[in-house]
Amino acid sequence: MKGIVFTEFLDLVEAKFGLEMVDKIINESDLESNGAYTAVGTYSFSEMLQLLQHLSENTGISKDDLLLVYAEHFFAVLAESYPGLIETYKDPIEMLASIENHIHIEVRKIYPDAELPTFEILERTDNSLIMIYKSSRAMHYFGLGLMNKTFEHFNSSATINLEKIKEDGTEVKFTIQKN
Ligand code: HEM
Repeated sequence: MKGIVFTEFLDLVEAKFGLEMVDKIINESDLESNGAYTAVGTYSFSEMLQLLQHLSENTGISKDDLLLVYAEHFFAVLAESYPGLIETYKDPIEMLASIENHIHIEVRKIYPDAELPTFEILERTDNSLIMIYKSSRAMHYFGLGLMNKTFEHFNSSATINLEKIKEDGTEVKFTIQKN
């Protein structure tokens, strides 16, 4: 997992819960990096899982809710870092339908070692999209947060339903309906 995902995560934890919480979750985890991340580095996904688990235990907020809120913050980071990628699009459905064949392809050119999910489109209309998310990382709530913010970015909103195809969240069906 790319370092920018860790640095932004710890910045948000500090902003919401304070520096003591950052130190606490790092100390409670067994991290090869020792909790020292650089934006361009690459780290084991298990480090993110441990940080999330300990933040969840210390705050009583579920890991899914933490990932959702974190993704909403991360969207702003992506929009600021890669404005050109988002400006290509005029419509949120069009943008979400292009993650697989454009956006994440560009991301892989920048970070060849990025660990990205796949999105398979089952159905698409002007106002709706049905896609299957697949990833061994089961970050579907992270996807949901990014989708919410994609609609907000275009001054729009949507009703998004998640249906787990695999109980562990490694395969999830997203049904997106523009409001
Ligand atoms: C992960 C870039 C838009 C879904 C990532 C990562 C990057 C990235 C750098 C981390 C990869 C790693 O740590 O190895 C971008 C950029 C975008 C964008 C630059 C737009 C300009 C989106 C959107 C979605 C999405 C709109 C909506 C669903 C995900 C998910 C992950 C991810 C779910 C987590 C990894 C996983 O589930 O396996 N993306 N992304 N991305 N992205 Fe995107």
